[in-house]
Amino acid sequence: MSKNLRKNLQIAIDGPAGAGKSTVARMVAHELGMFYLDTGAMYRVISYKVLKNGILPEDELAVTRIAQETEITFDHRDRDVVLCDGEIVTSQIRSPEVNRTVSIVAAYAGVRERLVKIQRVEAAKGNVVMDGRDIGTFVLPEADIKIFLTASTEERAARRLQEIQATGINMTYQQVLDDIENRDSMDSQRQHSPLRPAEDAIIIDTTTLAVDEVAEKIVSLISSS
Ligand code: DC
Repeated sequence: MSKNLRKNLQIAIDGPAGAGKSTVARMVAHELGMFYLDTGAMYRVISYKVLKNGILPEDELAVTRIAQETEITFDHRDRDVVLCDGEIVTSQIRSPEVNRTVSIVAAYAGVRERLVKIQRVEAAKGNVVMDGRDIGTFVLPEADIKIFLTASTEERAARRLQEIQATGINMTYQQVLDDIENRDSMDSQRQHSPLRPAEDAIIIDTTTLAVDEVAEKIVSLISSS
């Protein structure tokens, strides 16, 4: 039986790259019978399409146009499956090229405006766990619980390296570390909705915690709220 007794719960999970947000958010949503929305995947879809169309990520106007005309959907049977204009792009949006460019694309006001609009429509359907960078501060300021996950940069790089190697992509620890530091700095220094914890967020440092411990912690916070 679902432990979630209240209707229309909105749970926000934010934090830097590699803090374990998506794994944890997925586990929490599954445990509580809630819907999970990976907002990072949406920015990745735009970045993927920009690269596919040969557009420079620095070309704000062209990128914004792409964001406005792209249809992003999640397969209703398996939410991990992401579609860009009807094409399945689940693995393509995790490529090193997308990793390198997504923070540039995500900094544009027009891109954020379009994606935030979609995210709020999804959240209004109720019972959602959403992960990202600005969910607690901007997308869902009235969320019932706001979590901010952190971990040391070295630990986050080690986790990301493991994920990347599992997909058969060859990268060194140093490359992954540089990529993470670069993205953190762009995501937290941008003008629009920078990465930062909401004032009422609960901060959890996951450096020495296993994902199921973090998920359990969040489930108990939700259950006792
Ligand atoms: O969580 P992720 O690594 O898949 O996110 C990819 C990029 O998208 C990340 O560099 C920052 C951006 N992002 C964002 O700006 N706002 C969100 N709500 C989610 C992701």
